[in-house]
Amino acid sequence: MIVNFDKYIDNRHANLSKFDGLKSLYGTSKDTCISMWVADMDFNPPKSVIKALEKEVSHGVFGYYGNNKSFINSVKTWMKNRHDWDISEEWCSIVHGVNSGIGMGLRAFSDPGDQILLFSPIYYSFFNTIKNNGRVPKEIPLKIVEGQYEVDFNELDKNLSGKEKIIIFCSPHNPGGKIWSKETLTTLAEFCRNNKILIFMDEIHHDLTYSDKPHTTFLKAVPEAEKISLIFTAATKTFNIAGCHTGTTIIPNPKLRSIYDREHAAFGKTPNRFGMIMTEAAYSGGEEWLNQLMHYLEKNKRLFTNALRLLNNVKVFDLESTYLAWVDFGQLDITELELKDMLIKEAGVAPSFGSGFGKNSGKFARFNIACRTEILDLAINRLTKTFL
Ligand SMILES: Cc1ncc(COP(=O)(O)O)c(C=O)c1O
Repeated sequence: MIVNFDKYIDNRHANLSKFDGLKSLYGTSKDTCISMWVADMDFNPPKSVIKALEKEVSHGVFGYYGNNKSFINSVKTWMKNRHDWDISEEWCSIVHGVNSGIGMGLRAFSDPGDQILLFSPIYYSFFNTIKNNGRVPKEIPLKIVEGQYEVDFNELDKNLSGKEKIIIFCSPHNPGGKIWSKETLTTLAEFCRNNKILIFMDEIHHDLTYSDKPHTTFLKAVPEAEKISLIFTAATKTFNIAGCHTGTTIIPNPKLRSIYDREHAAFGKTPNRFGMIMTEAAYSGGEEWLNQLMHYLEKNKRLFTNALRLLNNVKVFDLESTYLAWVDFGQLDITELELKDMLIKEAGVAPSFGSGFGKNSGKFARFNIACRTEILDLAINRLTKTFL
């Protein structure tokens, strides 16, 4: 089976936030601007997902979802086969996506006013989830070492107030796709254990790795962190089914699990029938599709990185995993506003602007390169014309 990722799909009229938001958020049009901001892909998901949905629709039975054994088994099998990570069925809670799972975790393990640690730049929704739950985000900037991010443990130590309850950590990292080393994750776990801080490890991007570097599965690399960690994962990024809003929170420690479970029950635990079907079908029938996807994305990554590195004073971080390229325009003698205008009005390309990812990132932008290569080429040409 060869998957054609070059296939044209007219998705601009499908209620997709990546297109509909261009007008409301960027003041531009989906007919002229290339959307590169939202983290989903321009491709159809694996055939197994479409087939499972077709079967469900033709059967026409849409009641509350019951036995979730085979779903959990598909998660467990995926973790074993793809990540060589053994998990138990009872560690898994099915949630309405990672953000929702994290929000419940914040409510379960912290109180309003508590500080939640983040290493920035970081995925912007974490800030909103923390604030919307009445908690306080506390940002520790990552440091740049040889063109790539590293956790600044000295800065973390210096800034500790004692009010921090939880660290939300993104692995692989969004933005920029950094794959964290075992050493970094071990030091992080040690730090958290010593300071009684829980770890929320968001591994939603873990499957999207390239041929040269594997993901470091946190609890496999640092099993001693099981006692203090919640892992958040989903098949939605991997297989481009973000709209199904289904994920899994994995909690090995039974005490933490029962606290999480109580909060989860307060919100209603019944899963989304379609999310269950799509996720299970993706995990059990999507592996070959994923292998081919990563080949395709590897070519896109090379094209994008090489082309933007030819531009004056523009720096592209090494994209070690996933499809969210992080670009530093900070050396250009322009303001943040001028940068936005150049991207949107001159180039006609809409990335996520850096300011949403935390302090010191105003002159950065994150570009989603998971589109047809033809569209990527067009974006590269437009950016080259604007920034060369
Ligand atoms: C790191 C990270 N976590 C969570 C999410 C969102 O997950 P969900 O749609 O399951 O809430 C994203 C989406 O881009 C993400 O990049």
